[in-house]
Amino acid sequence: MRILLLTHAFNSLTQRLHVELKALGHEVSVEFDINDAVALEAVELHQPDLIIAPFLKRAIPESIWRQHVCLVVHPGIRGDRGPSSLDWAILEGEANWGVTVLQANGEMDAGDIWASVEFEMREAAKGSLYRNEVTDAAVEAIRLAVERFATGDYQPEPLDASDPDIRGEWRPLVKQTDRVIDWQRDTSEAVVKKIRSGDGVPGVKDTLYGREFFLYDARPETRLKGTPGQLIARCGPAICRATVDGAVWIGHLREKPGELPFKLPATHLLANEIVDLPAIEADDRTGYREIWYEESDGVGFLHFPFYNGAMSTAQCESLLTAYRAAKNRDTQVIVLMGGPDYWSNGMHLNLIEAASSAADESWCNINAIDDLAREIIETDSHLTIAALQGNAGAGGVFLARAADEVWVRRGVILNPHYKDMGNLFGSEYWTYLLPRYAGEENAARIVENRLPMGVDEAQSLKLIDRVIDPKREGFVPQVRQLAQAMIRTPAFTERLHYKNARRQADEAVKPLARYREEELEQMKRNFYGFDPSYHVARYNFVYKVPKSRTPLTLANHRWVASVRRVS
Ligand code: COA
Repeated sequence: MRILLLTHAFNSLTQRLHVELKALGHEVSVEFDINDAVALEAVELHQPDLIIAPFLKRAIPESIWRQHVCLVVHPGIRGDRGPSSLDWAILEGEANWGVTVLQANGEMDAGDIWASVEFEMREAAKGSLYRNEVTDAAVEAIRLAVERFATGDYQPEPLDASDPDIRGEWRPLVKQTDRVIDWQRDTSEAVVKKIRSGDGVPGVKDTLYGREFFLYDARPETRLKGTPGQLIARCGPAICRATVDGAVWIGHLREKPGELPFKLPATHLLANEIVDLPAIEADDRTGYREIWYEESDGVGFLHFPFYNGAMSTAQCESLLTAYRAAKNRDTQVIVLMGGPDYWSNGMHLNLIEAASSAADESWCNINAIDDLAREIIETDSHLTIAALQGNAGAGGVFLARAADEVWVRRGVILNPHYKDMGNLFGSEYWTYLLPRYAGEENAARIVENRLPMGVDEAQSLKLIDRVIDPKREGFVPQVRQLAQAMIRTPAFTERLHYKNARRQADEAVKPLARYREEELEQMKRNFYGFDPSYHVARYNFVYKVPKSRTPLTLANHRWVASVRRVS
């Protein structure tokens, strides 16, 4: 089928649908919903059998939905309507929620229902639920809807608000007043819930030291207490604020208005104000842990759930220290666990944007991540595994591939390319790793295509070694079991010898240092050269400047049309 994905942005859900629909054999093209004329033009060019709207911020033009079946992915249960579905579901403590695929008509979210899939809610930030439960349910619901559409005679179900089985209802946009925190009254649980309902967008507005911020990245604290509303401690990127019954950690803030009006670590934005706050060490019961290590039966597990998968210079350095310590343990396997939502998205673009010299900070950051990648590649004492519970992008994918094996949860999306960031060349030894695993030809294609990749394609290209099927909760226990089983296989020692011999052979052909030198030569041009594309692209990314056109790598219909014009 010819399918057009009409979407506000190529966000994680849209990327996943793109991957899944293509894998089902459909001809999928993407158009960003910029205005009516552009959307109409895309429909003209692609001539879709079906239009799917995974993520829209405005209504589909009538001239389109009257002519074509348009399926809207709504992150709510049957009957739920409005722009803040998931926010309300979190705020109101719903035990189950869902995704409904509706046919666009003149009324927002009130069209006929093609499919609806429910899931169990989890105590997590909105963005985390969106990237996991909502995305999985959307994939299932879209698959069902597309199958039903393909039969040609399926009748979607009209929304009947009087049906007692319909729990959902119209709900307005959540306003700041709906989730404002009352530090003199709200419990830690209530504060965390409010912050999570608006994380990643828009955040909960609050005042700290007389400045206005939006709060993100909340975690409950179990030990510290203080006068409600007071800041009582700091730990890593986070500040701790007392509530009526305990305290909560707040990892990230956005100041608006402000000089740096984008998300940054709380301790970065409040550096001058919090000098007297006691800094505490995190452990499994207290504080805000960014990196931790655990061990069982000969396997070391290194966790690094960095917010949004962004890895700053300091975070890379701390992770390198933790990794070296893991290597010094009497274990045989090290598993790099990343975090539950992301494994890694490469350099920390927001902190680079905030630095006094973005070029210098980019340079430090890429070197710090390269140091870590080199340490992983050169590990000769252990077998190393990167276990991806969540997505990885750009340098994060190659950092994972630096490990001997890459194990990935089904549903994870990889973006193994850099060029979308203003033609960034990239480093992390990708020029060694990508051809080594995927082959020269595939490597060149992956770099040029700049497309998200699902686990099956990644496995066929040897970018990953193993796909792990269980849902979220089952992933970590299964990784543990498989890693421990690996040590017990008779071939384990042989594998270690083989990998070290292979590394030495590769080093003899071309030393790792040369790959790095060559990559960094190009990166120097990106950071310090005459062409400002990387700095412009990073600014646009960090400031969330809406895209003014769909890249040709996604809009196949435009690419095909331009080829037709030329020939
Ligand atoms: N630095 C800082 N923040 C980052 C980041 C990075 N490297 N990568 C992602 N983020 C943030 C986004 O700004 C977004 O923030 P939000 O919470 O305010 O919405 C959040 O993480 C989620 O990212 P988003 O782009 O919405 O996720 P996605 O799943 O739709 O797209 C990528 C995934 C990897 C394609 C996209 O995040 C990306 O291009 N990241 C930059 C990768 C990069 O170029 N790294 C530098 C080179 S190593």
